Amino acid sequence: MVRLQIGPVRLHPSLFPVLWTGPSNTTHYLVVDAKLGVVPIPDGWSFEEAAQLGVAPMTALQRLHQSLELPSPFEARSTDPRCTVLIWGGASAIGQYAIQFAKLSGLRVLTTASPKNFDLVRGLGTDEVFDYRDESVVEEICAATWNALDIAINTVSEGKTPEQVTSAIGDKGGKVAIILSYESPRPTVKVAFSKLPDVLRRESNGKCPTELLV
Ligand SMILES: NC(=O)c1ccc[n+]([C@@H]2O[C@H](COP(=O)([O-])OP(=O)(O)OC[C@H]3O[C@@H](n4cnc5c(N)ncnc54)[C@H](OP(=O)(O)O)[C@@H]3O)[C@@H](O)[C@H]2O)c1
Repeated sequence: MVRLQIGPVRLHPSLFPVLWTGPSNTTHYLVVDAKLGVVPIPDGWSFEEAAQLGVAPMTALQRLHQSLELPSPFEARSTDPRCTVLIWGGASAIGQYAIQFAKLSGLRVLTTASPKNFDLVRGLGTDEVFDYRDESVVEEICAATWNALDIAINTVSEGKTPEQVTSAIGDKGGKVAIILSYESPRPTVKVAFSKLPDVLRRESNGKCPTELLV
């Protein structure tokens, strides 16, 4: 079904490689594990549309279900409507997928975005959206979560966001899944950083698909 070869990779036209693109996202050549890295292009999608289905959705899933240890959206639904996740940067590529996966998991989703993207993130299922440029954004999120928020994803992970997302976590502390490495500014808030290839190493007994082939 999937033909791999050393040198230029040939894939069936209805398949596309999603997970492992080698050391650079702009690499000209790909090595993919057929079991882990190739899925059919959804019906009616062009290759160009499908090409964005790799890094962003996998990173969103990894942050929710590996870093934050939430159930997979394909396995279980939260029954507690108070179970809330903050997705900081909901209009980013990772954020847009994280919102949808979190809603599929039955979570209440709070996010931040520019006002021009409020309708976009609401359309993806966001319950409440806040303008991250508003000086009172953290206070507003704390009020909307009764100072009890305990999980968040920081899809930006730079600038003021490490401080902002950590401060939005409630009094008892919690965990923030991050996409660029940084130290937690608050002892009661843990940060969980991983890279996309880490999920593949876990699924491949500690080796990346490329390493399996050499
Ligand atoms: N660790 C990993 O495995 C991994 C994987 C993939 C990507 N990454 C990294 O993740 C980062 C994000 O990637 P991406 O492709 O999702 O980004 P992106 O799509 O380029 O995100 C751009 C959006 O982020 C929003 N944004 C910017 N600054 C913000 C802030 N301070 N607060 C809230 N939202 C803000 C803006 O939303 P508005 O338009 O609403 O203002 C903007 O439209 C990159 O640095 C990338 O290298 C890491």
